Amino acid sequence: MSKTITIDGKVIPFEDGQTIMDAAMAAGVYIPHLCHQPEFTPHGSCKLCTVKVNGRNCSACTYPAMDGQEVLNETQELIDDRKRITQMLFVEGNHLCPGCEKTGNCQLQAVAYHLNMLDNHFPAFYPEREVDASHPEVMIDHNRCIFCTLCVRASHEKDGKDVFAISGRGIHKHLIVNAESGLLKDTDMAATDHAAHICPTGAILIKRTGYQVPIGERIYDHKEIDQVSLATEHLKHGE
Ligand code: SF4
Ligand code: FES
Repeated sequence: MSKTITIDGKVIPFEDGQTIMDAAMAAGVYIPHLCHQPEFTPHGSCKLCTVKVNGRNCSACTYPAMDGQEVLNETQELIDDRKRITQMLFVEGNHLCPGCEKTGNCQLQAVAYHLNMLDNHFPAFYPEREVDASHPEVMIDHNRCIFCTLCVRASHEKDGKDVFAISGRGIHKHLIVNAESGLLKDTDMAATDHAAHICPTGAILIKRTGYQVPIGERIYDHKEIDQVSLATEHLKHGE
């Protein structure tokens, strides 16, 4: 007999080695997430995927599924917590959606809509961060980095390059690149790297492509992030 967990009362089978996120996504249950993509080692940093497992808060992307677990996902308390986390992500950086070329394709923005986030709630930090436009094809706008480490993992695990790393802690945390000058142009980054296409926000962008897809025809202009996520990540989780 296969092993199962329940998520909000729904019985979901899983295989040994799967996380709660893996089992949920394979069964078509969306758990909000930003730092998780199924093809990379889970990192558990954004905490957006927090669920209650047998009464305790856990990150669904890192917590292993275990037979008989009772998982709560869509309670009002968890939805409110996720909205607060998203609001904190917005105020910690400079996320000015109307002026960002990633608008409509941005997972941070899409999650905020999904959680019905209508304001920032917290005062904005307006940190001073730089734009690195030194590379001929790829740019980094540090204002929009949420430190999800997906570019770090993609560069290491898929590209075999280690172009990116996170340095510092708390308010001093920042994304660094593997060059003495600190500039992307002095790394071996290429526009074809996985790391150049994985950013959930508009922090890493391919130059001269910004408005090739017009506003109104972008990924989240017509579909919510739960639909997109289940349609595109579901298969990878089920593999
Ligand atoms: S640049 Fe993008 S992918 Fe890299 S850590 Fe920041 S938000 Fe994540
Ligand atoms: S998606 Fe699980 S902690 Fe970010």
